[in-house]
Amino acid sequence: MAKQKLKDLNQEHIITWMDKLPDDEKNKLANQVLNLNIKQVVDLYNNLNKTFEIGNKKIEKISAIDIEKLSKEDFEKYKNTGIDVIKNNQYAVITMAGGQGTRLGHNGPKGTFMVHLNSGDKYLFQIIVEALQKANNKYSVTIPWYIMTSEENNDQTQAFLEEHNYFGYPKDSVKLFKQGKVPLISNKGKLLIGSNKLIKEASDGNGSIYASLKNDGILDEMKAKNIKWVFVGGVDNILLRIVDPLLLGVTISQNNQIASKSVKKANPKERAGVFCKIDGMPGIIEYSELPEEMAEERDEHGDLVYGDVNILSHLFSFDALEKLSNVKLPYHIAEKVSDYLDEDGNLVKPIEKNVYKFESFIFDAFSNYNEMSILRVQRSEEFAPIKNKEGVDSPETAVNLYNNAKSL
Ligand code: UD1
Repeated sequence: MAKQKLKDLNQEHIITWMDKLPDDEKNKLANQVLNLNIKQVVDLYNNLNKTFEIGNKKIEKISAIDIEKLSKEDFEKYKNTGIDVIKNNQYAVITMAGGQGTRLGHNGPKGTFMVHLNSGDKYLFQIIVEALQKANNKYSVTIPWYIMTSEENNDQTQAFLEEHNYFGYPKDSVKLFKQGKVPLISNKGKLLIGSNKLIKEASDGNGSIYASLKNDGILDEMKAKNIKWVFVGGVDNILLRIVDPLLLGVTISQNNQIASKSVKKANPKERAGVFCKIDGMPGIIEYSELPEEMAEERDEHGDLVYGDVNILSHLFSFDALEKLSNVKLPYHIAEKVSDYLDEDGNLVKPIEKNVYKFESFIFDAFSNYNEMSILRVQRSEEFAPIKNKEGVDSPETAVNLYNNAKSL
């Protein structure tokens, strides 16, 4: 059956491989073939031009609420609304930590990276735990914490947190769940065999979160806990405000189901997604897909038209997550360099990009709602990302920002 599936999808080279393997490895590979959605990736390859593209879509500016312009009364009112949600144990937090952090060059899950702050040396996961603990003490609650990992880093993440005793967080309030994956496909339309003698797969992007929450039973658990609002954040912004009643209050007052925070874009070339309307619906265009003219476009005040940057600080009602767990997101293509074993079992290490990786993005789901709340916050207080080993968005720049933030 596995062989027929491969033949039907033009992947006979895997059969040749399979036939050379000893029985146990052959069975493992055959099982993988049977379980993998190979047709999906072959179809994606055959329709490369049908993955996400701005193309003829109508892109427009979207408005955000500027935290600086909120009146004192509104600020207090929103905050109190949010505090009620948290105090009623209706708030949960998800950290997306399924990425590989390749650019940082850290050997291990990104959350296990250590930064040297004025207040001491801390791991990224530890910074998150401390923020949660602070909120727990303030509001007399224990906020459930979910961590999205991937096949590549789940075991290491689990072992790290165990080793550090979850940095003192109550263990039964922490749960890891694994995101999905998609096979890699070469630029010739062929699946690749990795050094474990199985077909190479990779994480399918942070848009995987919705389906994974459902498939891994997290939505059921949240429902049982009566969670009403879920914050979803990245793992690598050391100034990320994980528990912010203001964002909750703004969203609830605007009667929206989803919300995000933004900061003012530093310059047209900043490598961050920008908020906008896509065909009339709220969304984000990723930096890698934003045409230069749009990145440079300015309004009559000289401000960037697409000047609100995504800082991976998203809020969803539980109902929205439930709805979005059934929605199919488009894939974006990334071309990557990937090692593989050739038909004689030799490791090939290409120097040029040789594979397509398909990823869905969490923010592509926003377009399922007519409106969302966007709260523009102060960059110096809430955005200190660690992406690169050196230079922009590096540990050095992030630590400087952290040490200078006034609100900590
Ligand atoms: C991301 C945002 C970008 C934003 C920037 C701000 C997306 C798609 N892009 O870009 O718009 O301006 O952060 O810092 O959200 N992750 C997974 N699974 C995956 C891939 C990623 O969990 O398969 C997680 C990562 O662990 C990380 C987050 O998603 O927490 C963002 O991933 P990363 O690859 O770092 O995205 P950026 O390119 O930095």
